[in-house]
Amino acid sequence: MGHCNASASIQLVSLIILSGILSLETIKLGFCNDNHNVGCIDIERKALLKLKQGLTDPSDRLSSWVGEDCCKWSGVGCNNITGRVNRLDLGNRDGYEENAFDGEINPSLLVLKDLEYLDLSMNNFVGVQFPSFIGSLEKLKYLNLSGLDFVGVIPPNLGNLSRLLYLDLSLGTFSTDLHWLATLSSLKYLNLGGLNLTKATSYWLPTVNRLPSLVELHLPLCGLSILPLTIPSINFTSLLVLDLSGNKFTSTIPPWLFNLTKLEKLDFSVNSLTGKLPDSLGHLKSLRFLNLSYNSFQGSIPKSIGNLRFSYDSHVDLTSNRFEGPLPLWSSNISLLYLRDNLFSGPIPHNICQVMPNLKYLDISTNSLSGSIPLFLGNLSQLQFILISNNLLSGEIPHFWNNMTSLLCIDLSNNNLSGEIPHIWNNMPSLGCIHLSNNSLSGTIPRSLGSLTSLEFLILSSNNFSGEVPSLKNCTYLRILDLGDNKFFGPIPAFIGERMLSLKILSLRSNSFTGSIPLKLCGLSALRILDFSHNNLSGNIPHCIGNLSYLKYENTDYYSLGCIGSFELVSKGRMFVYDYHSILALVTSIDLSDNKLSGEIPMGLTSLIKLGTLNLSVNHLTGIIPANIGNLESIETLDLSLNKLSGSIPQSMVSLTFLNHLNLSYNNLSGKIPTGNQFHTFIDPSIYEGNPGLSSCPLPTGCQDNEGVPQVPSGDGGEDDDSKLEKLQFVISLVIGFCAGFSGVFGTLAMKRSWRYAYFQLLDKVKDVVLDFVSAIGTYLQKRS
Ligand SMILES: *[C@@H]1O[C@H](CO)[C@@H](O)[C@H](O)[C@H]1NC(C)=O
Ligand SMILES: *[C@@H]1O[C@H](CO)[C@@H](O)[C@H](O)[C@H]1NC(C)=O
Ligand SMILES: *[C@@H]1O[C@H](CO)[C@@H](O)[C@H](O)[C@H]1NC(C)=O
Ligand SMILES: *[C@@H]1O[C@H](CO)[C@@H](O)[C@H](O)[C@H]1NC(C)=O
Ligand SMILES: *[C@@H]1O[C@H](CO)[C@@H](O)[C@H](O)[C@H]1NC(C)=O
Ligand SMILES: *[C@@H]1O[C@H](CO)[C@@H](O)[C@H](O)[C@H]1NC(C)=O
Ligand SMILES: *[C@@H]1O[C@H](CO)[C@@H](O)[C@H](O)[C@H]1NC(C)=O
Ligand SMILES: *[C@@H]1O[C@H](CO)[C@@H](O)[C@H](O)[C@H]1NC(C)=O
Ligand SMILES: *[C@@H]1O[C@H](CO)[C@@H](O)[C@H](O)[C@H]1NC(C)=O
Ligand SMILES: *[C@@H]1O[C@H](CO)[C@@H](O)[C@H](O)[C@H]1NC(C)=O
Ligand SMILES: *[C@@H]1O[C@H](CO)[C@@H](O)[C@H](O)[C@H]1NC(C)=O
Ligand SMILES: *[C@@H]1O[C@H](CO)[C@@H](O)[C@H](O)[C@H]1NC(C)=O
Repeated sequence: MGHCNASASIQLVSLIILSGILSLETIKLGFCNDNHNVGCIDIERKALLKLKQGLTDPSDRLSSWVGEDCCKWSGVGCNNITGRVNRLDLGNRDGYEENAFDGEINPSLLVLKDLEYLDLSMNNFVGVQFPSFIGSLEKLKYLNLSGLDFVGVIPPNLGNLSRLLYLDLSLGTFSTDLHWLATLSSLKYLNLGGLNLTKATSYWLPTVNRLPSLVELHLPLCGLSILPLTIPSINFTSLLVLDLSGNKFTSTIPPWLFNLTKLEKLDFSVNSLTGKLPDSLGHLKSLRFLNLSYNSFQGSIPKSIGNLRFSYDSHVDLTSNRFEGPLPLWSSNISLLYLRDNLFSGPIPHNICQVMPNLKYLDISTNSLSGSIPLFLGNLSQLQFILISNNLLSGEIPHFWNNMTSLLCIDLSNNNLSGEIPHIWNNMPSLGCIHLSNNSLSGTIPRSLGSLTSLEFLILSSNNFSGEVPSLKNCTYLRILDLGDNKFFGPIPAFIGERMLSLKILSLRSNSFTGSIPLKLCGLSALRILDFSHNNLSGNIPHCIGNLSYLKYENTDYYSLGCIGSFELVSKGRMFVYDYHSILALVTSIDLSDNKLSGEIPMGLTSLIKLGTLNLSVNHLTGIIPANIGNLESIETLDLSLNKLSGSIPQSMVSLTFLNHLNLSYNNLSGKIPTGNQFHTFIDPSIYEGNPGLSSCPLPTGCQDNEGVPQVPSGDGGEDDDSKLEKLQFVISLVIGFCAGFSGVFGTLAMKRSWRYAYFQLLDKVKDVVLDFVSAIGTYLQKRS
């Protein structure tokens, strides 16, 4: 849990920034909760009870709302002199669905004339009209209606709340103009994140610019498309936080921005902003959080950025732009630096640990960095993430990580690194992920790696590693073990099945493993992908394979795994590169192809009803295709070719309605090819050829009378739609991927209403940006296959 989790800490920081500003006021407003010397006023108590009556309260959050003194009820606060209710906190802060109120919000609240603080956030109120009476609660200073699905429009009388300091309407589902905003002259904090503000796109900036006290402005995902380059005069120079992420701005960075010299947090991520970063960026001397990720900025980073005195624990995110030039390693205080997916080139400066000693998270993957990995990276004692994949780095991996006690994740995949894995892995109690695939590394897996008891991801595929697999018995939390495309030999260790009970992906493909498949592996109850293809395995397919329980039952555990990088998988006859986040939601597979397995196909296999790909081709399997193979209701790819199977093709296969890639060639099958359902599309003769006893009817080539048989170009018929679907699923998972970081968090996230909202909003609104990205991936896929 929590390993390799970057986004959690980011959330934390933004909360800290927020609470830094909020705390003063909250204390002022919230103080009156205790110590009141006057009891609660009767009409107010009755008003609250009416409110309670209207609410559905599934988890009994209002159980304390009994008795005379309503000031003691949970969520209720009173003025300690007048005894009047001034605070009502009914927010469902944790966002758990099961704690959400529903029902109606009774206008009896209007009786609470002195109400200053009202929080109803993250409750349900499905289909409820926006309660227009709120605009009459004139003393309100804090109003939080975040995450409420009210229907209708925002009532313009909200503009009467001239004392309002905090207004949070984020993650609502309605659209609104902004005329009502102009009169909220005391406003310090405004969050309309996720509201559809397209109606206001031409005048939103002048409007908020007229709010003289504004300190924090959050308008992410609002559908805004115009970011004026000039505004007449700037009077929100006191702004500390500006979040305009996820809109549709296409301009360059507006010059007025650099007059907001107090700015501490700037988020322009997920827009289409272009141009170079101007030198005047150096004016923003108070900046400590800069997020320009997912835009089209280009050019090198201006030198003036070195003037920025980022305070301790600053975050800089320039992910996915077209920045170029040398790596901007400039300020000693930055702790999170994301430069992934740009065009930075040149070496990683060897004095990096002197320049940025406080780094916790370094992501410089997917650039064009060359040279070697600095020897002294190990002096960055706080470093938790080293993500350097997809560059042109060469040379050996330095023995730098000994003593890096905070390290959580190392990703050096897709470089040109050579030599051996360092042999000493001491003092790294938290290391959760090692990703070294696609390099030219050689030698054996060091024994000491087996002492990493927190390891969850060990991905060494596509290197030149050799030798037997050492004991990894103590790595009991492993979730991905990928040793594919190497030169490992010896038997498949039985401890994998005995000790790694969390294993979800096990790939030993393309090695020289020998012996039989250990029976113990059948106990891997979380396993979704088993790939032993292209080895020298012999013996039978274990009968217990039908016990792999993840593949047997309906699962909801889609998101409980994530890691940086990608996973290659042959499916539907093509190579797909999946993001680790997506893979579990999409793919289940058993691939034992190209071995020397003999015996029959075990009956048990047919109980794996969630299996998507089954490839047993190129073995010595005998006997028949199990008659009840039709039970594999999720199967999409089935390849049994190049074996010695006999008997007929079971008629039950016509019920495999998801099947779109079938290969039965080169066996001893006989009888008729079944007809019905999608079998009418399996008319490519090559998938049946090499079975002398098989009647070639209804193949177009085989029958005299081939009338009525649809002509399909080739075996990959329907691939277009198919690959669209493939991409679509990829879109979804990628968005989740870049939002959620590591999945330990995402697992919990699935249940949390607030976060769920945020992600769904994002899913909806960033689609366009991501689609571009996906087409880039598409190109990448084509190049590879
Ligand atoms: C009443 O509340 C105010 C703040 O609202 C506080 O300053 C004051 O000390 C409180 N008085 C008592 C008697 O608790
Ligand atoms: C409003 O409530 C949401 C969820 O309960 C919370 O995340 C947010 O910080 C609150 N807004 C303000 C301004 O306090
Ligand atoms: C509140 O706002 C409405 C509409 O904006 C307006 O008609 C009304 O006069 C306002 N009420 C007060 C008391 O200012
Ligand atoms: C936003 O609202 C406008 C009309 O105000 C509408 O045309 C548009 O489709 C809405 N956008 C979204 C994403 O809902
Ligand atoms: C803010 O600027 C607007 C023009 O955009 C101006 O009308 C208004 O008076 C200014 N307010 C303050 C407080 O300076
Ligand atoms: C920004 O500030 C400079 C002086 O520091 C001033 O000359 C310029 O007009 C300001 N720009 C805007 C857009 O207000
Ligand atoms: C680092 O942060 C500290 C504390 O916020 C600050 O005083 C110092 O100037 C910063 N150093 C640099 C080089 O920005
Ligand atoms: C890294 O630390 C070692 C001692 O732990 C020290 O000898 C070396 O000079 C440091 N290197 C740099 C570049 O700071
Ligand atoms: C690791 O730490 C130990 C003791 O803390 C020290 O003796 C050793 O020199 C350190 N190794 C490196 C490579 O810094
Ligand atoms: C990879 O490194 C080797 C030397 O280790 C070098 O000969 C080769 O050219 C490099 N390949 C690339 C693509 O940089
Ligand atoms: C595994 O843990 C046991 C008990 O802590 C220890 O004795 C053994 O040496 C460890 N094995 C490896 C390979 O680290
Ligand atoms: C920057 O913004 C992107 C997209 O909005 C987000 O995924 C990322 O976590 C943000 N970076 C930081 C450091 O908060």
